[in-house]
Amino acid sequence: MKKIGVAILGLGVVGGGTYKILSEHRDFYKKVHGLDITVESVLEINKERAIALGVSESIISTNIAEICSNPDIDIVVEVIGGVEPAKSYVLAALNAGKSVVTSNKELFCKYSHELEKAAKKNNCGLFYEACVCGGIPVIRSLTDNLQGNKITSIMGIINGTTNYILTKMSNEGVTYSEVVKEAQKLGYAEANPSADVEGYDAAYKLSILSSLSFHTKIPFTEVYREGITEIDNTDIKYGKKLGYSLKLLAIGKNSENGIEVRVHPAFINSTHPLASVNDSYNAVYITGDCVEDVMLYGRGAGALPTGSAIVGDIIYCATHEKFNYSTFDNTANCDPATKFITNFESAYYLRLVAQDRTGVLSRVSSVLSKNDISVAQVIQDKVNKQDNTVQLIITTHLTHEKNINKAVKEINSIDGFAKVNSIIRVVS
Ligand code: HSE
Repeated sequence: MKKIGVAILGLGVVGGGTYKILSEHRDFYKKVHGLDITVESVLEINKERAIALGVSESIISTNIAEICSNPDIDIVVEVIGGVEPAKSYVLAALNAGKSVVTSNKELFCKYSHELEKAAKKNNCGLFYEACVCGGIPVIRSLTDNLQGNKITSIMGIINGTTNYILTKMSNEGVTYSEVVKEAQKLGYAEANPSADVEGYDAAYKLSILSSLSFHTKIPFTEVYREGITEIDNTDIKYGKKLGYSLKLLAIGKNSENGIEVRVHPAFINSTHPLASVNDSYNAVYITGDCVEDVMLYGRGAGALPTGSAIVGDIIYCATHEKFNYSTFDNTANCDPATKFITNFESAYYLRLVAQDRTGVLSRVSSVLSKNDISVAQVIQDKVNKQDNTVQLIITTHLTHEKNINKAVKEINSIDGFAKVNSIIRVVS
């Protein structure tokens, strides 16, 4: 029986879930994989928390050097989160010859070049399935199963907190701030929810996914990012009338014109498979030249789903002699030859509040047509008698960001005529 010693750095939600899975499935892994996986040490300053999880006091440590020098430890699991001290601990473990499994998307996204260099130098494995979409096996799908493809596009709902918020807003008509408070109470959203609601978490994940998909380094700083903090229920309501669902989408595309990577709220047609991904669930929709479309769906967070990804990596690491590293030159910055598209092409939804008087619609449409924007649909809601205004909803055919931004500026600059309150991209 092959013995595998594991150390877990951090016993928070994911660390606790990993510990539970490893403890409860020990006999199962012995039988199925011929592996006796034991937790030899946990790094946790909160002793009580560790003991409450059933960890024996004798294996609780607060010293990374002790873990690195322990010959019984083969694999170090880093689930602390954030950059420091996680980065120093991971580098120390790799330099001590231990393979590392991490769920830390911020660390991996920003420093995978340094971590991978240390892993290669020390002939260690570096595994990160748990960094993206919790229990969904998307990393290994990209690094192994889909390697035969040229991947042209990857589109996903890769943040559970924002998907939970948008689903609640859409189904129950509650406001953004009400749902955030509720999500915090339920433990879905952090006390400071900015990493999720401002799209950083999704941008870290998209940087990792698109680098793997397109075989070139896509630094996080190249990902265009907009969060959901400005979303208004009014737009969700009008979107529904048009047959759309509102989602925080992460989109990566690779074409002969270049690469585009973006995270922003978007309307998608309610018939699209991603439209039915609700609550805190995640899904990733990948298009490859051979496989065509693949959609992976599941829990993107949580103790056991993310623990499942970590334990999968531990078993993979324990059963492979040779480790895979990036298929591209993993440097801090992108290859200078990489061309990024920032003037995205998209269809758009615009909501204007306009004066209800003769010629307003024709002036709006003349600004749009001057900017090479073709109108797909127009809805005019009933007149607000108090100020004699109307809500005007316009959807467009495909056009470019620059055209839309220019047209909106122009419309807004005509005093007392119409104001564009919302611009939302529509993804088909
Ligand atoms: N906070 C993330 C989410 C989970 O809401 O999806 C960890 O990445």
